Amino acid sequence: MPAAPVIPILPNGIPALGLGTFPLRGDDATRAVAMALEIGLRHIDTAQMYANEADVAKALRASGIPREQVYVVTKVDPSNLSQSRFAASVARSVEDLGGPPDLLLIHWPPPDEDLDAVVGRLVEEKNKGMARAIGVSNFTPAMMRRAQTVAQGAIIANQVEFHPLLDQREVLKEARDLGITLTAYCPLARGKALQAELIRAMASAYGRPASEIVLRWILQQGVAAIPMTTKRGNALSNLNATGFELSGHDMTALSSLGTRGGRLVSPSWMNGRWD
Ligand SMILES: NC(=O)c1ccc[n+]([C@@H]2O[C@H](COP(=O)([O-])OP(=O)(O)OC[C@H]3O[C@@H](n4cnc5c(N)ncnc54)[C@H](OP(=O)(O)O)[C@@H]3O)[C@@H](O)[C@H]2O)c1
Repeated sequence: MPAAPVIPILPNGIPALGLGTFPLRGDDATRAVAMALEIGLRHIDTAQMYANEADVAKALRASGIPREQVYVVTKVDPSNLSQSRFAASVARSVEDLGGPPDLLLIHWPPPDEDLDAVVGRLVEEKNKGMARAIGVSNFTPAMMRRAQTVAQGAIIANQVEFHPLLDQREVLKEARDLGITLTAYCPLARGKALQAELIRAMASAYGRPASEIVLRWILQQGVAAIPMTTKRGNALSNLNATGFELSGHDMTALSSLGTRGGRLVSPSWMNGRWD
């Protein structure tokens, strides 16, 4: 039996590869997380919005793997960012997860709340011991910079849409400057990246599925990836992305594919706010 692949730990302690759990709920979520843990993944992404925190926790408990060996990320829903809802929502997440998450994120920049105040509430939760570390999600470079100032350097991660069809070079540069680790959501562009001609050509040149080329391109930039899959074969293939290198030439070629219009996920309150 081949040895389980070693998954690198990125700066700020984030395992480079994890499992996304949206839109899985109930037994589907529990089964997918159990499968991921069984094949060696140790980073699970959930959120209040996904309504599956308790389902994720069920798989964690059943696995018998000590809780401190799994990196669990959850996110505060946009509807819970106000002073009156923030702390209570985090307490519910902690209860559903069976303990504090390793990383607690603000899921989206506040639709109608003051950013500084929301980041302040996040810091307070960390200080109370309700999260081991804190971060943000879907924050632009300017928002990341502001959050890092308000949090006095405590923001360790920004989870953003990141795949070869979307140009995220500015976010990546700013994150590196601020000591923030990026996590790529929709790392496969929900399958769309697997159809790109250049990626298909590289897949055949490397003798690997297009998904491994895409995930490797992400990991090789020091960005974590959390592809969602319910299929063991796909999850095992995704793990292979930790075990090979793309040439510098191919990295550059893939990095030139992305455009600013390549975004798949953008709620209405982000209109005009991305740049
Ligand atoms: N912070 C945010 O605002 C935000 C937004 C969106 C998503 N997320 C998080 O990011 C996670 C991942 O994003 P996503 O699920 O939207 O997109 P994704 O991971 O890019 O794509 C998921 C799709 O890829 C397929 N897939 C996975 N591995 C594959 C492989 N090796 N070969 C072929 N197909 C494969 C899956 O199907 P199969 O099940 O058939 O394998 C699934 O249909 C989510 O689950 C969620 O946890 C966060």
